[in-house]
Amino acid sequence: MSYHNDPYDPKQVAYLSPEALEEAVADARTDFAAAVDLDALHKIKHRHLGDKAPVMLARREIGALPPAAKSDAGKRVNAARLAVNAAYDERSEVLAAEAAERVLREETVDVTLPTQRRMRGARHPITLMADGIADLFIAMGYQVNEGPEIEPEWYNFDALNIKPDHPARTMMDTFYVAAAKAGRDSGLVLRTHTSSLQIHSMLNQEPPIYAVAPGRVYRTDEVDATHSPVFHQAEGLVVDKGITMAHLKGTLDHFARAMFGSGVKTRLRPSYFPFTEPSAELDVWFEAHKDGPRWIEWGGCGMVNPRVLSACGIDPHVYSGFAFGMGIDRAVMLGHDVGDMRDMFDGDVRFPLALGTER
Ligand code: DAH
Repeated sequence: MSYHNDPYDPKQVAYLSPEALEEAVADARTDFAAAVDLDALHKIKHRHLGDKAPVMLARREIGALPPAAKSDAGKRVNAARLAVNAAYDERSEVLAAEAAERVLREETVDVTLPTQRRMRGARHPITLMADGIADLFIAMGYQVNEGPEIEPEWYNFDALNIKPDHPARTMMDTFYVAAAKAGRDSGLVLRTHTSSLQIHSMLNQEPPIYAVAPGRVYRTDEVDATHSPVFHQAEGLVVDKGITMAHLKGTLDHFARAMFGSGVKTRLRPSYFPFTEPSAELDVWFEAHKDGPRWIEWGGCGMVNPRVLSACGIDPHVYSGFAFGMGIDRAVMLGHDVGDMRDMFDGDVRFPLALGTER
């Protein structure tokens, strides 16, 4: 842009006077000093260094001066412009340093402050109980068997002598996964008890069999303080020559004392299960129960029904056996005074801590 041909006009050259330039520089310094942060400084930059800033207007006016005055005026304007520039840069540096310092100060992390305590998880009391049961029986020479949680009805019912018209076969108790189909004579269910593992054990191996099988079982129960649709049992099965009910009673006595303390007594109460004959319910005497001394039912047991042995290809004239199925959740609740079954399944990490079973 050139103003060489502009006529000389004293009004137009107002910005060129030394006083005006000094004032422009002083104004810029004052303004820049008043900017509280870099943002504010950027916003006012154009006022003193933009196209319409006094020093810029003064520069344009040089062209209109008589040639003899140009050099002097040029130096003056340039010096003023450099002074404004320097003032800007200086302020900008100060503000940038301040900003950096503020960030450091405000974002400081005090690494010595105490943190929120994180609860450590622990193995679930039911898992510990199941492992403890397995260990106890391993020590007596048993093996630990596991099996599928989804079973053909045949394993869960028929082979255990639970006929199709047995109440346990209705939809009330059992989660049906798949209906019986042509080509497969049995539907699929979520196992309602660990007794299906007896069948697996007998089909998979020859007697003598000494097996314990802890596992998860399912029934269509509503959740409340004493029921859950998922719970745990420990099944025991012995098949050998000359096995009697005395062996069963002795084994369960030992089992109960290991679980609940050497002071407990047990009793066998006559009962009925299709897969044992005779059958009994095992009660355990709790002297120090919170509601007073009493017998508490822990599980079912009996001598393996010859029909079950036969269904699994074992000759009942040669072999006899006993079986039992105990509630693991029930044992945890009894052993630790857990009043509400739901506490065992809602996953609160404080639960094992409250029981003192954490490991
Ligand atoms: N399966 C039975 C139940 O869930 C418990 C049971 C009873 C298991 C007698 C056994 C037994 O092995 O012999 O109620």
